[in-house]
Amino acid sequence: MAKLKTIAVITPGGDAPGMNTAIRAVVRTAIFHGLKVWGIEHGWWGLMNGHLLEMGPKSVSGIINKGGTILHSRRCPEFKNKANREKAYKNLADKGIDGIVVIGGDGSLRASEIIMKENKTPVNIIPATIDNDIPCTDYTIGFDTAVNTAVEAIDKIRDTATSHERLFVVEVMGRHNGFIALDVALVSGAEAVIIPEVKTNLAKIVKQIKAGQERGKESFIIVVAEGAGDVRKIANQLQNKLNIGVRLSILGHIQRGGTPTALSRELACKLGATAVELMLKGGGGYLVGAISDKICCTLINKLAKTKKQIDLEQLRIANMLAT
Ligand code: F6P
Repeated sequence: MAKLKTIAVITPGGDAPGMNTAIRAVVRTAIFHGLKVWGIEHGWWGLMNGHLLEMGPKSVSGIINKGGTILHSRRCPEFKNKANREKAYKNLADKGIDGIVVIGGDGSLRASEIIMKENKTPVNIIPATIDNDIPCTDYTIGFDTAVNTAVEAIDKIRDTATSHERLFVVEVMGRHNGFIALDVALVSGAEAVIIPEVKTNLAKIVKQIKAGQERGKESFIIVVAEGAGDVRKIANQLQNKLNIGVRLSILGHIQRGGTPTALSRELACKLGATAVELMLKGGGGYLVGAISDKICCTLINKLAKTKKQIDLEQLRIANMLAT
């Protein structure tokens, strides 16, 4: 195998707090080992259109604690088109790029597999998405920060909910899953959580709230994952069945921004450095994650049928503590 000389780093898809920390780790590790590094701007769209800039140690200074991604990102459905991908491969070849570190979520994972198959460029992927829906890693970069942001918001909502003796339905992100919702519900003391993985029993929730009212509870928070159904409909249904003022709060993209927490940064530093050093040793095609606090590299082609499962025991505990 030819010696690795030049790598590229990219942050496609939805951004996540800690991506900048990961870019810094990748760039600094690569330079430490004498590699040349290109930053691909604007995700896969930028690779197709030749938006590449050479990065040095200075280009990543002062970003360890900055939310978002200095490389920018963009959703890129055009990358599903083979002719567009060919343009991307040409740009990789023009710059002599012989390895890519992808910092991203499930869409990036699928794109990385295709690139490796079609273009034979080794790709290591660092899981970075607030959704935490990537298998073979306990946490993704950005998840902890997003959970903390949502919890801080719900703590504030709880204040006004208690003052006015209201019920708040709070929607958190998670288009296809309830990882954020479940963590947030547990640690913010929500009275109920609605996630796509578990069938919603609204009648049961109504019963629990009525029981809470009888016990003198002054406020109620129901956390709903974005992908669990129409949150407006859920709020209306609750309003029609309960004798309490119901309000809706959609937290939205606030969860994707902000200063990464120490946990998100720690993961980003470790995984970024490992992804590059693994490639230097000839290891390409890996998802570089962490399980039980230990770095764990899994071949991407072994992930195809693996789906991260929601922790039903955590759901049981959240429900028990809410009563
Ligand atoms: O990054 C994942 C995610 O945050 C989902 O939870 C959410 O549904 C989606 O991105 C929103 O994406 P966009 O910003 O492209 O609308």
